[in-house]
Amino acid sequence: MGGDRPWWKDAVIYHIYLRSFADSGGDGLGDIAGLTAHLDHLRGGPNSLGVDALWITPPFPSPDADFGYDVSDYRGIDPRMGTPEDFDRFLAEAHRRGLRVLLDLVLNHTSIEHPWFAESRRSRKSPRRDWYYWRDASRHRRYPNNWQSVFGGPAWTWDEAAGQFYYHMFLPEQPDLNWSNPAVRRELLNVARFWLDRGVDGFRLDAFNVWGKDPALPDNPPRFGLRPYDRQVHLYDMDRPVMDAALADLRALLDGYPERMAVGETIERDSPEKAALHVGEGKLHLAFNFAFGASPWRPRAFLHAVERWEAALGPERWPSYVLSDHDGAGRHIGRYGGRHPDEIAKVAAAMLLTLRGTPFIYYGDEIALPPTPIRRSQILDPVSKHYWPFHMRDPGRAPLPWNASRHGGFTTGRPWLPLHPGYPSRNVEAQSADPSSVFQFYRQLIALRRGSVALRAGDFHNLTRRPGRGWAYLRQAPGERALVALNFYRRPLRLALDRSLPAGDWRLALSSAPSTPAHLEGDIVHLAPFEAAVFLEKS
Ligand code: NOJ
Repeated sequence: MGGDRPWWKDAVIYHIYLRSFADSGGDGLGDIAGLTAHLDHLRGGPNSLGVDALWITPPFPSPDADFGYDVSDYRGIDPRMGTPEDFDRFLAEAHRRGLRVLLDLVLNHTSIEHPWFAESRRSRKSPRRDWYYWRDASRHRRYPNNWQSVFGGPAWTWDEAAGQFYYHMFLPEQPDLNWSNPAVRRELLNVARFWLDRGVDGFRLDAFNVWGKDPALPDNPPRFGLRPYDRQVHLYDMDRPVMDAALADLRALLDGYPERMAVGETIERDSPEKAALHVGEGKLHLAFNFAFGASPWRPRAFLHAVERWEAALGPERWPSYVLSDHDGAGRHIGRYGGRHPDEIAKVAAAMLLTLRGTPFIYYGDEIALPPTPIRRSQILDPVSKHYWPFHMRDPGRAPLPWNASRHGGFTTGRPWLPLHPGYPSRNVEAQSADPSSVFQFYRQLIALRRGSVALRAGDFHNLTRRPGRGWAYLRQAPGERALVALNFYRRPLRLALDRSLPAGDWRLALSSAPSTPAHLEGDIVHLAPFEAAVFLEKS
């Protein structure tokens, strides 16, 4: 590993929803040993995807009100996910293959069952009372202030035993920690230190920008919006100075270890400007930008998202890209796939893996797994229950089908969520065996990216100012250039570039339509239906 450039700028990172990746124990839930047994799929095997790092959703003990995002012990491993030894084995095995591992730290809130909260709620005199936000009812109305939970309903829940309200940005089972309390801050940093000492390569920080609130807890001002949560400007319940200070402490801690990094999930997910604020020296290495999750299948929409993100970050800070996730974005095949899921998956993959920035691949996207149809009665996620049918998270969290056997080889038991019914034909084994599959195209793209300094590190120059059906851009590094041309639709395309291509010996390096591959004619790229093509020029 090593090198001058930080590894995370060159890496392709794979996002694992641990509960749905692979079950080793037969209880229907994915676990750490299952993941370890399937690392060949990711790297180091004869037919691996070839990714460089992965982030796994929280493996910590959790009563599962929010499937691992309500942590009851930050240093433990949930017995259903395995043992601490399983985790160490997984880490060693990943490292042996050259795979880095990022752990999802959920430090904004604990589970309601965390011993800290139990102690805190016990009495007003508890030494941990101030570890959370406890308040009396306001004199004039029911709640201490007007803050709303992003998961629906007021952000305050009355606790009979404690005789006060407590605050939660998410579910009532996820009380927020008080980051203004120095003891809390110290303890949470110690949690990060614990896992760094254990050998993880960094963190995905859950909802980091809501760490810390204005201590006076003033009402948020109103604004227009659909949900009660959206009907206020979140002035006092996020992005507070205490969060900047905490982030700086965490960054200093990470900088004390070689080659560690943090990528953060910003609440108000659709604002690249907000995400960009938290990236840089003394802050995060990377922040997620979920703009693609809201982009329609139109080149202009993606270009707009890229330009906005590049402008927000400037040349120094490094972008990242996400097409799908286990939250609001769901699976992009569901958004775009229509009647051409494989073709569209390939174009989307080519875009994700050739833009300037670190790409994150969501597990299952490499086989173009569509969202799984889930009946209302099958929903497990409380957020999906609350917002049904508008905001559904379960369909994008279904188990990964490994082969055509019962339950897709994911488990010998009863899967915790149903598998996609198409799994007998759409599974990892079938895709690996088919040279023209989406999976093989991902492999080729990742290998191409690894060998191309232009694709990994080059500047981004748009070549089609007002892209209609196709989009082209240049990635330019000293010694190498890459031209990426994408046809988003099902007719052949004659894509005229707005800027002349730099002269040189341009060679087609990869096409998703190898039987009728793209060719260049001056400043025109001829593309087959739904073709994604990459040309390289080395000087
Ligand atoms: C973001 C996580 O990705 C999501 O799954 C979770 O529900 C919330 N944060 C709360 O932790």
